[in-house]
Amino acid sequence: MTWHETIAYIRQQPEFANLVQLAYFDADLPANVSRFAATSEFLETKKLLQKFAPNGKKLLDIGAGNGVSSVNFALLGYEVTALEPDLSDTVGAGAVALLKQHYNLSNLEIVSDYAENIAFPKDYFDIVYIRQAVHHAHDLTQFIAQAARVLRPGGLLLTVRDHVIWDEKDKQWFLENHPLHKFYGGENAFQLSEYQQAMKNAGLEIRHSFAHFDTAINYFPANGELIERSRPHQKTIESWENGVLIKIPFLNRLVRRYVFSRYGKRFDEKQIAGRLYSFVAIKK
Ligand SMILES: C[S@@+](CC[C@H](N)C(=O)[O-])C[C@H]1O[C@@H](n2cnc3c(N)ncnc32)[C@H](O)[C@@H]1O
Repeated sequence: MTWHETIAYIRQQPEFANLVQLAYFDADLPANVSRFAATSEFLETKKLLQKFAPNGKKLLDIGAGNGVSSVNFALLGYEVTALEPDLSDTVGAGAVALLKQHYNLSNLEIVSDYAENIAFPKDYFDIVYIRQAVHHAHDLTQFIAQAARVLRPGGLLLTVRDHVIWDEKDKQWFLENHPLHKFYGGENAFQLSEYQQAMKNAGLEIRHSFAHFDTAINYFPANGELIERSRPHQKTIESWENGVLIKIPFLNRLVRRYVFSRYGKRFDEKQIAGRLYSFVAIKK
């Protein structure tokens, strides 16, 4: 099966209903857009764009899929180009075109191609955003080099939610655990150093490498409050700030130790097959 055939298939299978919702694969395309807009992932994404590209206007979304990010960026007023090689109305450029029409977006362009072949001139975009697509690169070095080439100096490359593996054995574990790989065989992942090296080779300065539990961008839809409380070295428990416990350091430590012993393992990224990473990089 191809990628879009896989999505059309799982939409019909009740056991995949939760995944269809969580991955924005619903046949109701505007519903996916609204659901994504309301997530803590998108909220944190907007904060990063504000911080690292406060004046950014021209945004390229590589591997845009069915357009949940592209459309939301366009609704926020960015001049968006969605680059997506898949043409389908299910999870590809066809779906983005339907949404462009639905929301009447004159500030959203759609180009069907692979990142490795981007045809835009150099220094063209203020922001290149890539969600869950870098790990699909045929050629990681070329993929990132092209993303960097079309970015203006000082521009922001924000790649989010890419799978990281430690070694070949870890990669096998990830592929065996991926819910859709068995249908379409297109999953992949790289080592952390491979992503970072590709960015350095492309003349990018990495400002942040966010590990799986460092940001809601990666761990959404997991419970952020529980994750924060389960950190072993966290100094304060923010959500207790208005309560009594925060004022009693001894009790505070006990609570933290209890939460860590109970949930620490669950929030250890080593326990997650193909844990997700995000990167903030600036073109020099
Ligand atoms: C997991 S989907 C993510 C889609 C979308 N960014 C999202 O977050 O919903 C990965 C997307 O990357 C696209 N893709 C795969 N290889 C690519 C490449 N070399 N260049 C650009 N896009 C690619 C696929 O067609 C697919 O739509």
